[in-house]
Amino acid sequence: MTGVEPASGSVTGRGLFITLEGGDGSGKTTQAELLHEWLAGEGRTVVRTREPGGTAVGIEVREIVLHHRGDIAPRAEALLYAADRAHHVATVVRPALARGEVVIQDRYIDSSVAYQGAGRVLDPEAVRGLSEWATEGLMPDLTILLDLDAVAARGRLDEARTRYDRLEAEASEFHDRVRSAYLGLAEAEPERFLVVDASQPVDEIAAKIRERVALLTGL
Ligand code: TYD
Repeated sequence: MTGVEPASGSVTGRGLFITLEGGDGSGKTTQAELLHEWLAGEGRTVVRTREPGGTAVGIEVREIVLHHRGDIAPRAEALLYAADRAHHVATVVRPALARGEVVIQDRYIDSSVAYQGAGRVLDPEAVRGLSEWATEGLMPDLTILLDLDAVAARGRLDEARTRYDRLEAEASEFHDRVRSAYLGLAEAEPERFLVVDASQPVDEIAAKIRERVALLTGL
């Protein structure tokens, strides 16, 4: 791979689309920041964004999906995440990729497949199909999965927060299912995924991520 060309089969144009995935409390935000700093230091223009909530519309959707006080029907929840994603991809991600920039994004399609699918009510393939439609098939060049068992992740969240959103409050059995779903996705697409053991020190995780990203950027 030379320069900033995307991985083969990518539809991202000239830029590079990197997503971070993992359970709540797996350290995605810290790693996204470190990767951003490194790439910016190497002279790349980086857009850091997230789902849900990477746009003004998305912030409103995020408020509903994460903080609505009653139940939300599973299909409605899946559609809300997909709606956020459709708007985000069309107005933020694709334009940045078209400008040749690096997009570092906290959560994407794999979050929907793992979380909405792990509720067991929805077929993961149907959830994926919805997101594929929403994004017109835009897939990341690289997805970094920060893998951490549910007990360790909960320990970190307890240290950091006093209030949980709707999904963080789910039982640990749910989070175990999310983790297995993620690992299954990574196994099915080893070329797109980098799986990192998120119980390692922050610097070691960052180094592994940089090593893989360097292969894609030629840095
Ligand atoms: P957020 O506060 O962004 O947490 P985190 O730091 O863990 O990313 O919360 C996002 C929550 O939304 C998280 O619990 C996972 C969930 N989610 C889905 O269920 N489906 C999705 O498609 C996305 C993008 C997120």
